[in-house]
Amino acid sequence: MKKIVVTGGAGFIGSHTVVELVEHGFEPIIVDDFSNSDRRVLDGLERICGSAPRCYEMDCQDGARLRDVFREHRDVVGAIHFAASKAVGESMEKPLQYYQNNIGSLLTLLDVMQEFSVQDLVFSSSCCVYGEPEEVPVTEEAKIQPPASVYGATKQICETIIRDVVASGRGLRAVALRYFNPIGAHPSAAIGELPLGTPENLVPVILQSAAGIRGPVHVFGGDWGTRDGTCVRDYIHVMDLAAAHVEALDWLSPAGERTTDEARYEVFNVGTGRGTTVLEAIQAFQRATGENLEYEIHPRRSGDIEQVYANCDKVIRALGWQAKRGLDEALRDAWRWQMSLEKSR
Ligand code: WQD
Repeated sequence: MKKIVVTGGAGFIGSHTVVELVEHGFEPIIVDDFSNSDRRVLDGLERICGSAPRCYEMDCQDGARLRDVFREHRDVVGAIHFAASKAVGESMEKPLQYYQNNIGSLLTLLDVMQEFSVQDLVFSSSCCVYGEPEEVPVTEEAKIQPPASVYGATKQICETIIRDVVASGRGLRAVALRYFNPIGAHPSAAIGELPLGTPENLVPVILQSAAGIRGPVHVFGGDWGTRDGTCVRDYIHVMDLAAAHVEALDWLSPAGERTTDEARYEVFNVGTGRGTTVLEAIQAFQRATGENLEYEIHPRRSGDIEQVYANCDKVIRALGWQAKRGLDEALRDAWRWQMSLEKSR
């Protein structure tokens, strides 16, 4: 079976991608330090996939241990790199930790991949590289603005590193997927976004407010230049996002079989192509779940941008991938996951 090393594979997007890999005949090998994930994810993956994927608890910056993994699994045909710190606000408070971890883990992975001639890489990038885009929907050709956060800066730097390593002709072939706003959960509710600590993102906040864990949702700003005065984002179901990773691997090497040694590096937006305001997301949640949600308009959050949503023409054309699930389905799946968390408390 074709093995894929999945760094950060116990995380929110990583775990849902592990499910997609198994369903497409790959064998995922998870590498995760559980600094932003929980071992319970492995139980959920076992329930969905029928068996728990191989998982190595380690820091991706530990080159010696990462070499051991690649040495033990010589039939690895590619890697998907999720492992990174991702809290935008925290990245401004701890820049050194973010640069060291996010860039260090990529450099270590690239070094070990080169040593073991594993040449296909899918990289978890972000729409944050666009900063505040000059126009929306944003395309991959949009001007890369100065990053609005250290987190966004690390993603820009990592994309540059990957592009340069591919151009060096040492065999690496890569795809960078620029995520918009991943939300939702696997329909089984066996895995989802684990709210470790106090959530910053809108949908986990909505879920906890609806579950009575926290008070009304604070809407950060009602005076933006948008149709209802609240920020616009592109909320994509995590299962659609996971599927894009398998399509990216297939684009690099169809069914895990290398067909060419030509250097390849492409960047793709991965969103729905639809913009949704914060108030529309709140209304969609109430519509989709029948739950009532209290909210209050509060001052803007520093670092927020007014609107960003994807133009997905390029990924549709190149990979034949398109988001299939809508906002209501994602919010229903997310709520089902929240209810399963409540039961397991
Ligand atoms: C969405 C909107 C807030 C919380 C995230 C990730 C980032 C990247 C892109 C992958 C904003 C508003 C939020 C709340 C609110 N993903 N909001 N009240 O900021 O777009 O960034 O997606 O790389 O890593 O952080 O997502 O969910 O924090 O905010 O009004 O309590 O919801 O102002 O307009 P964001 P978010």
